[in-house]
Amino acid sequence: MCGIVGYVGTNQATPFLIEGLTKLEYRGYDSAGIAVFDGEKIIVEKSVGRLASLKEKIAGHVPQGLIGIGHTRWATHGRPSDLNAHPHTDCSGDFVVVHNGIIENYLSLKEKLIKKGHVFKSETDTEVIAHLLEELYKGDFEAAVREVLKRIDGSYSLVFMSRNDPDKLICTKQDNPLVIGLGDGENFIASDIPAIITRTRRTYILNDGEVAVVKKDSVWITDREGIPVTKKIFEVNWNAEAAEKGGYEHFMLKEIHEQPKAVRNTMSPRIAKDGASIVMSELKWTREYLDSFEKIFIVACGTAYHAGLVGKYYIEKLTRIPVEVDIASEFRYRSPIINDRTLMMVVSQSGETSDTLAALKESKRLGARTLAITNVVGSSIAREADQVIYTWAGPEIAVASTKAYTTQLITMFMLAVYMAGIKETLAPERTRELIACLREIPAQISEALEDVEPIKTFAKEYGFNEDVFFIGRSLDYDVAMEGALKLKEISYIHAESYAAGELKHGTLALIVEGIPVIALATQKSVYEKTLSNIKEVKARDAIVIGIAAQDDNELEKYVDHVIKVPQTDELLIPILAVIPLQLLAYYAAITRGCDVDKPRNLAKSVTVE
Ligand code: AGP
Repeated sequence: MCGIVGYVGTNQATPFLIEGLTKLEYRGYDSAGIAVFDGEKIIVEKSVGRLASLKEKIAGHVPQGLIGIGHTRWATHGRPSDLNAHPHTDCSGDFVVVHNGIIENYLSLKEKLIKKGHVFKSETDTEVIAHLLEELYKGDFEAAVREVLKRIDGSYSLVFMSRNDPDKLICTKQDNPLVIGLGDGENFIASDIPAIITRTRRTYILNDGEVAVVKKDSVWITDREGIPVTKKIFEVNWNAEAAEKGGYEHFMLKEIHEQPKAVRNTMSPRIAKDGASIVMSELKWTREYLDSFEKIFIVACGTAYHAGLVGKYYIEKLTRIPVEVDIASEFRYRSPIINDRTLMMVVSQSGETSDTLAALKESKRLGARTLAITNVVGSSIAREADQVIYTWAGPEIAVASTKAYTTQLITMFMLAVYMAGIKETLAPERTRELIACLREIPAQISEALEDVEPIKTFAKEYGFNEDVFFIGRSLDYDVAMEGALKLKEISYIHAESYAAGELKHGTLALIVEGIPVIALATQKSVYEKTLSNIKEVKARDAIVIGIAAQDDNELEKYVDHVIKVPQTDELLIPILAVIPLQLLAYYAAITRGCDVDKPRNLAKSVTVE
């Protein structure tokens, strides 16, 4: 997620801008910049890399002025570079904007503005907003901002500055956070409370659609139509560390709860307005291109590998193209059969995992065409692959991957529907039906996150067991693997996932009285078979916690506890079924007093083979 700061007051703006951006570094970023009005013009200074590079750049000529804005960029559109860094200006340099989020209709707006003669300097969606403001400005800064907001679609928090109105900043938000800090003769704007907490604890938390005009001694808040809004002052009583986690105790819990927004941000720009198809503007594949492949490989590590297993199911089911999934550290040593009729897909949240990068390079050496699915723009894997699809989950800080997994699943699903559309292997009405279900997923993740009390109880009751099994069939088995990894890596419980139908071939010998078994039974196509496996473990007196779809009233007769997830197409239910497993792992780790965000022996990005 990008970081935004703004200052207007009687002190120099730059010190707060740099201080505020420093406090937002935890959000992850690849470049930074500031803009300050010096009494005559707006000075813009920006630099790729860490804040230290920006500080070095302005050393000796620190911008002087009493009003300014700043930004740390987490790239979504356009690689990390000086030019793509924010703030962005219009042609004249009279209007400047910083932005966190995604403008979904930026390409169509950019084409229109270029036709009107606007000259763009960057590859970003954000720069469109500055030129749109210039185009719509008729002498009234606030009115022009409101006109801009009528024309942009997407998620955003925005702060605008104008040379023509150098005593005010205008800010607004939609689906991304923005707070206003109330000082004495000065006021502050920030994406998040940590940036302002040392200056003031009196804040306004902006709501979606609200527009604030911020001066050094006043804050005027209205709705998008200009109707004044009465706001209560929110007194911040968090300490700085808690503020970075948005009030959550750990980054992992914060990121689990960010999944509705992360999935929405990843999905929305890729669903056609008429809901009839998936649009992958970054690919532009043709029938001839897809027919040129005889096999697809999906290669990854850890959680990303588990996402790849689900991706295999999606692609094979919807396109009938054969898919082979492999663990990156094994792939190279299996003498894989790769040639120019192979499409190699690698999945990696960090885009820096050495095993995955090495597998990608090996597949290219053998002639494969390549595609990366990653969360980090400009990462090594993104740069090595021929083509890239980005998950827009925002930075994932906790070692245990959660929002990366669900956004990888949603991306794999959309890719499979996109490919099926090209190969005409999916009926139009089935496509619409799946996309309609897809649109409900963010809200359904929120719903699945509400049912947390039973999970906390299970974590307390079974959290001290040293062995736990996760079983399932088909897609349920793939999710069982992810659930076992989550529990293992943060609670240190020896959790094992097993194909439910395979238990009787040996592993059933380990099922003894009282052992907890998490049984996933969401896939109707294999439900009866899964039920018989559940009866097998119950007959050995295991404690079974079932994970079932909302409309399942059968499972509770055969298990000790049931956690239900919202009803959706069984292809999409893995995205919901994993939520209780993430929460179970989290609360089990809490029960056992483990370091949730930084588990022993593990790193967030494994850059060694
Ligand atoms: C997942 O919870 C783990 N932290 C780990 O397995 C991770 O998924 C794996 O190292 C792959 O990382 P990547 O997605 O950044 O390539």
